[in-house]
Amino acid sequence: MAEITRHIGLSLGADICWPACFEHMMRRLDLRIPHEGDTVRFEVSRVYIEPFDLRQGCKYDVVIDRLTHWYHTSREWIKKAIVMNDLYVFNNPWSVQANEKHTSYVAMMHLGMPIPATWMVPPKSYEPTPDLKPTLSQYAKLFDVTRVGDIIGWPAFMKPYDGGGWRAVTRVANAEAARAAYDESGKAVMHVQSSVEGFDLFVRCIGFGPQTRCVLYDPSAPLHDRYTTKTAFMSAADAEHLRKVTLTINAFFGWEFNSCEALRKGSTWHPIDFANPCPDSQVTSLHYHFPWLVGAYLRWAIYTAATKKRMRKTLDWEPFYEIAKRDLPYEDKLDLYAKVADERFETARFEEFCHRHLGHLDAELYAFFTTEEAKTAVRAKVAALFPAHEVERFTELFWSRIQEWRADQKAPPG
Ligand SMILES: Nc1ncnc2c1ncn2[C@@H]1O[C@H](COP(=O)(O)OP(=O)(O)O)[C@@H](O)[C@H]1O
Ligand SMILES: [Mg+2]
Repeated sequence: MAEITRHIGLSLGADICWPACFEHMMRRLDLRIPHEGDTVRFEVSRVYIEPFDLRQGCKYDVVIDRLTHWYHTSREWIKKAIVMNDLYVFNNPWSVQANEKHTSYVAMMHLGMPIPATWMVPPKSYEPTPDLKPTLSQYAKLFDVTRVGDIIGWPAFMKPYDGGGWRAVTRVANAEAARAAYDESGKAVMHVQSSVEGFDLFVRCIGFGPQTRCVLYDPSAPLHDRYTTKTAFMSAADAEHLRKVTLTINAFFGWEFNSCEALRKGSTWHPIDFANPCPDSQVTSLHYHFPWLVGAYLRWAIYTAATKKRMRKTLDWEPFYEIAKRDLPYEDKLDLYAKVADERFETARFEEFCHRHLGHLDAELYAFFTTEEAKTAVRAKVAALFPAHEVERFTELFWSRIQEWRADQKAPPG
């Protein structure tokens, strides 16, 4: 019986709090997992940015990546390591690069999800390029952006087709506001989307491999209060519905770590923003939910590394399209999409693995979030974001919410 070491790499940018907690927890857990006759041990290290040979090896089995969406050297290193060295990485970097919000809307519309009516409009202005004039003068049709609102109905949202971070999102109530927002949009390619009016719940469902957590979201609150600490705000059936929606999106696009924003109007959930691979992981936004997130990172990283889960290098959309073709109500199709997702995320095997090998993880998390190490990780993130005179106050605030999470654990583990 050999002892095998699996290497987990953390490819990080401004992340401070969750990697520190991840590393502390891995030390606390000090795992020795029996797997196919061997004992699997784990080493966690940070991935550094440096020149690399395209043919070189890669010591990592799994990399958790937080850079692909904006730091291209790391993205290209990751692509190389998948193609050349069979690395497993969250998320699929080609999919992060190619599938922006726009594609995610179209694809999920095709699968039957009730995405609000959405139009794309060509940009207001352009970077001057040699072919621009002949192209536009021959082929660009004059249009009135307010006509789109007349067709899909007012109010509408004007927002960039590739989304992210609330950049240039405007709610336009009428033609005049739409014209003004369009004039402001500059070179951005925009969507005009029908507004979901009168919704009663706004939920952000975080998906991490097969794990999901639905958080009631308050977009009007200051940043540190947007993830509310409310629980039990919707039924188990609603949570199960959003689990299926989120896993379908994530399996379709190869995004193992993504969040899906959905608005409930009447009994219908309208997904509105679900191309967020690599969503916020900071204690300064997640606070109460942060221990869950750290646990989710740990479980999925340990599972994929221990079992050497195969990275799906290419996206296979056909099984979803086959289901979409069938003459079935949306809910039935969603069940079938979720089955494909559960297969791809190996949900049953993952749960069995966690039950067998990580039964003590919750108790360790519960204990860890009383330690000075945990509090130091929280304070370090707060210090990086808040002015000096607010550091103590906000550290205490986020720490107290983590303690609320501890108090709310049904049967304190351990
Ligand atoms: N169709 C819509 N109906 C209602 N609210 C919307 C709609 N689209 C966007 N919003 C509001 O605008 C915010 C930002 O839009 P979103 O699509 O999430 O952009 P981003 O990708 O920048 O996060 C949402 O969180 C929501 O509050
Ligand atoms: Mg959003």
